Amino acid sequence: ENVTADPGRLVEEGRVHKSLYSNPEIFAQELDRIFNKTWVWVAHESEVAEAGAYKTAFVGRQPVIVSRDRKKNIHVLLNRCRHRGATVCEGKRGKTRAFTCPYHGWGYALDGELRAIPKPEEYEGVIDKQELPLERLRHESYQGMIFATFNEEAEPLEEFLGGAKKWIDLFMKQSGGYPLQVLGDHRFRFPGNWKIQLENTTDAYHFPIVHKSFISSLDDQTSEVFDFLDGEGFVEDLGNGHSVMVMIPELVDLEANLDDPIPERFAELAEALRAEGHDEAEVRRLVRAVGGSGFNLNLFPNVACSMAFFRVLTPISVDETEIHHVAIGGAGAPAPFNQMRLRLHEHFQGPMGFGTPDDAEGWERVQKGSLAGPDGWILVNRGLKRMAPSADGNPAGAVCSETGMRAAYQMWKRLMSDEAGE
Ligand code: FES
Repeated sequence: ENVTADPGRLVEEGRVHKSLYSNPEIFAQELDRIFNKTWVWVAHESEVAEAGAYKTAFVGRQPVIVSRDRKKNIHVLLNRCRHRGATVCEGKRGKTRAFTCPYHGWGYALDGELRAIPKPEEYEGVIDKQELPLERLRHESYQGMIFATFNEEAEPLEEFLGGAKKWIDLFMKQSGGYPLQVLGDHRFRFPGNWKIQLENTTDAYHFPIVHKSFISSLDDQTSEVFDFLDGEGFVEDLGNGHSVMVMIPELVDLEANLDDPIPERFAELAEALRAEGHDEAEVRRLVRAVGGSGFNLNLFPNVACSMAFFRVLTPISVDETEIHHVAIGGAGAPAPFNQMRLRLHEHFQGPMGFGTPDDAEGWERVQKGSLAGPDGWILVNRGLKRMAPSADGNPAGAVCSETGMRAAYQMWKRLMSDEAGE
């Protein structure tokens, strides 16, 4: 049977077919129908804060440059020389006056305009420089998050984000009242399909099993915070494939409960802030913000926001994915706050951390299993019959529900169905 003829059939209400993880033709269709059609996260504005700053990123498999020109306008440019197609920039991030193609030296301005060509007399009457800028992608920002798309017909970004906007607003409070700033990042690849990672962000069920060593690395008070599976948490489908998993509802609004006792693990931070002369209100606000806001937000198709970090995924092939972990803090925030943010990030997400490396092993095993047997389905039906309204009346499930996975797969199905692909 040709499973790629109608990929929408591979997603049912409570299960998805394993070929979604292992069929290269499905992967090629995903690049075309998902990554080239929807809004894809490419940068946070703080990564290109100054005139002349740039970073490189991917929209699906297509390399792009996010740049800020001298007038401080942001551009998202296809990283492909208009001469013979070489990438014009391989740096991860930096500052420059122009992008000069390393092959034959064509030079492009920060807004993509073609400015310089070696031996221009050879091109006299042949090309018009004005007609050969680096191609520009449509881009829009929300709360400093820059998204780009190849699709001129795509709805405005804010419409696409829809129900997720409220959670992005809450996420931004993690910078302790300062503008959110990217503090650092690291990248790694795992031998598995991109959707295996996407599913993980709102999967609470694996937490006590996979993250046993993380939990054992915590003090008693902190490990209690992570004992949330039987708590009041929930997972909510936010529409358009986005979802949120609220693990610890009382932590969600970082501007609330500022009079609560300062947890032991942040006592040293509080002292360091007081020693720097910050008043008690500021100390409490920063201490409250440093531990994160108790929820994971999945923005379809490629970014997750969680305590103290973004996670961005880039599909490499059907069975390989690059993960880009971005630690966040506050621009101009006291140094002890940002340092604590980095330490917490390293503790869980870092390459030597107690969290993500264990997740990655689980993802790799799902990929291996998806090759086993002639046929097979993968279940995403946990909590399907246990739906209850959340506090604000939205449909939600308990924290262990696979609601987030189902939300992503319904969007996947919509985009991958025949009509959408035409
Ligand atoms: Fe860029 Fe030739 S490929 S200048």
